[in-house]
Amino acid sequence: MQEEKNRIIDTDEKGEDSQLDFSLRPKKLNEYVGQERIKENLLISMQAAKNRREPLEHVLLYGAPGLGKTTLAHIMANEMGVGIKITSGPAIEKSGDLAAILTNLQEGDVLFIDEIHRLNKTIEEILYPAMEDSALDIIIGKGPQARTLRIELPPITIIGATTKASMLSAPLRDRFGMIFHLNFYDHEDIEKIIRRNAGILGVDIDIESCKNISTRSRRTPRVANRLLKRVRDYCEVKGNGVIEAKHCQGAFNMLEVDELGLDFVDRKILEMIIDKFSGGPVGLNTIAAASGEDMSTIEDVYEPYLMRLGFIDRSPRGRVVTDIAYRHLKREKPGQKKMV
Ligand SMILES: Nc1ncnc2c1ncn2[C@@H]1O[C@H](COP(=O)(O)OP(=O)(O)OP(=O)(O)O)[C@@H](O)[C@H]1O
Ligand SMILES: [Mg+2]
Repeated sequence: MQEEKNRIIDTDEKGEDSQLDFSLRPKKLNEYVGQERIKENLLISMQAAKNRREPLEHVLLYGAPGLGKTTLAHIMANEMGVGIKITSGPAIEKSGDLAAILTNLQEGDVLFIDEIHRLNKTIEEILYPAMEDSALDIIIGKGPQARTLRIELPPITIIGATTKASMLSAPLRDRFGMIFHLNFYDHEDIEKIIRRNAGILGVDIDIESCKNISTRSRRTPRVANRLLKRVRDYCEVKGNGVIEAKHCQGAFNMLEVDELGLDFVDRKILEMIIDKFSGGPVGLNTIAAASGEDMSTIEDVYEPYLMRLGFIDRSPRGRVVTDIAYRHLKREKPGQKKMV
């Protein structure tokens, strides 16, 4: 389903985001909104590391897409005054790739490994001595002749990011000195981000519009930024460029995003379960077959937000659409009195 690749409220990064992300991405810790506990911890650790003239400890960041993991990694390097090299689990195919990256880093540099849960096992093992002893073990030769050559590396900081902490192996997880879980943002924080970013984009926004975008943003900064940009475009064309509540609704209608941030795909999935399976319980594979999506997309992309809203329950016999979802969709639940 092609249309679904362009969901406005998708939390995953898209091409159009990269330029926007770059201009709106906070560069300093005090510009990074929310996640207060993480910021407090980091401030102390960074100051302590600076005082000792040592690199920052290895940090693992985990949390849903679009919550600010990459942003935070850049901020850490920036605040420590060191360089940052960016790679990702799936990008490192051979152990030589990682060895080349490691040997090219300067003392204190940050190596940011995105999607670190997707590193392959043999490559992961190269990371262990690099993290623990600042060393690279190279195996020379094969069979009984094989021997290990240890090369010293400059001390560096590895920052790993993952959306799936449970998929990280225990030995790798244990080698991180700090592990932070990024939470979804509360609405005040999302509003702060929207106001700040409207300022950077040079557009005025009224309080109500700010709230309206925030409630539709799935408590995720990336979605808030994307909605802000679309609403700005709409207000430029339909109004005088100022983001005003009276134009916002038109923009949301056009984008088919409702007041809880559900879009047509979310609604379609819920309605399909209601119409074809009497609201469930229905197995994930049946939902997948009926909607033409694969199971993992439903499980990883669509379902988490619907579950977070309490619109879908997982029962041992399958997924069930809840009463509040029926109310939100203004649908009548079978066996219940007609809604007035
Ligand atoms: N705490 C924050 N304060 C202000 N803006 C933020 C914050 N967190 C994220 N953002 C904004 O949201 C955008 C997306 O964040 P980022 O790319 O860091 O997410 P991510 O967690 O790395 O996502 P992914 O898992 O998809 O890689 C950033 O460009 C930035 O503008
Ligand atoms: Mg990222």
